[in-house]
Amino acid sequence: MTLDFAGRVAIVTGAGGGLGRQHALALAARGARVLVNDLGGAVDGSGSTASAAQAVVDEIRAAGGEALANNASVSDFDAVLAMVQQAIDAWGRVDILVNNAGILRDKSFAKMDMADFRLVVDVHLMGAAYCCRAVWPHMQAQNYGRIVMTTSSTGLYGNFGQANYGAAKLAQVGLMQTLAIEGAKYGIHVNALAPTAATRMTEGLMPEEVLAALKPEAVVPAMLVLAHESAPTRTILCAGAGSFEAAHITLTQGVYLGTGPDVPERLAAQLAQVTDRSGDMVPQSGAAQGKHEVERAMAAHRGS
Ligand code: NAI
Repeated sequence: MTLDFAGRVAIVTGAGGGLGRQHALALAARGARVLVNDLGGAVDGSGSTASAAQAVVDEIRAAGGEALANNASVSDFDAVLAMVQQAIDAWGRVDILVNNAGILRDKSFAKMDMADFRLVVDVHLMGAAYCCRAVWPHMQAQNYGRIVMTTSSTGLYGNFGQANYGAAKLAQVGLMQTLAIEGAKYGIHVNALAPTAATRMTEGLMPEEVLAALKPEAVVPAMLVLAHESAPTRTILCAGAGSFEAAHITLTQGVYLGTGPDVPERLAAQLAQVTDRSGDMVPQSGAAQGKHEVERAMAAHRGS
């Protein structure tokens, strides 16, 4: 099966460089009309220039594709609403949203300025939420949508110096989990991509030979699979240097201990069994996990 995007309209945020540029080029090469968003700032989010998005639009047009430039900051909801309207006015629909825009303000937590914490949350989490909120009614009305969040191994597993970034990145997975549930009946599939790539964001973080193996183009197939009509929903795909994995937020089988004054001590004694991963499961929703606990308690009461 060819992953074709003919007739589709895509918005890719932060597409003036790095991974976003590759996403935009690939979607356009496969037939999508692409709104290329980028504020054009530095890696720490400072400054802006309209030329970053326009250069990618020029590249797409030179290759025979259709694209429009947009310079909204994803952390400005009014500007995001106008961005989505720009795509609707030009092409009448939005089928795909790739939330890719991002910045870094790395520091160990002890030295981290809380203003930098908030800024990173504003761009990554609020930016993704604003973009989703702006496309949502259009996707609902057309009974079709594909949203790709860009999470990170830092959000999933942590990394020194990235408390703000990690928190904001895993928050996008939380957003994905609920939007996938709410979007299901409207044909809206929501997934998350955890890329690893050599871009200006990872410059200096890894040795040169490692960066050479991490071409941003190698991440694009995962985005295409998550943005395509055949996409799954609620999947976290990791991609880098030609490898692809899925990350899961699993739940152990755990242990029923009931209630009573000695539960803290019994829990401490049985912690290894509670955290034992054999028989891990992935609940279908938060409510399903709660129900699982209640059912277990009721079964224990029936048995006693
Ligand atoms: P990059 O710095 O080349 O790309 C980020 C783009 O977002 C830039 O072009 C920037 O101008 C734009 N941007 C920043 N703030 C914006 C705002 N408020 N509104 C609109 N555009 C804005 O870095 P890279 O690596 O291409 O990052 C793309 C995404 O992938 C980011 O979300 C990043 O956190 C994520 N990521 C990257 C990894 C990597 O290994 N490169 C690892 C994990 C996640």
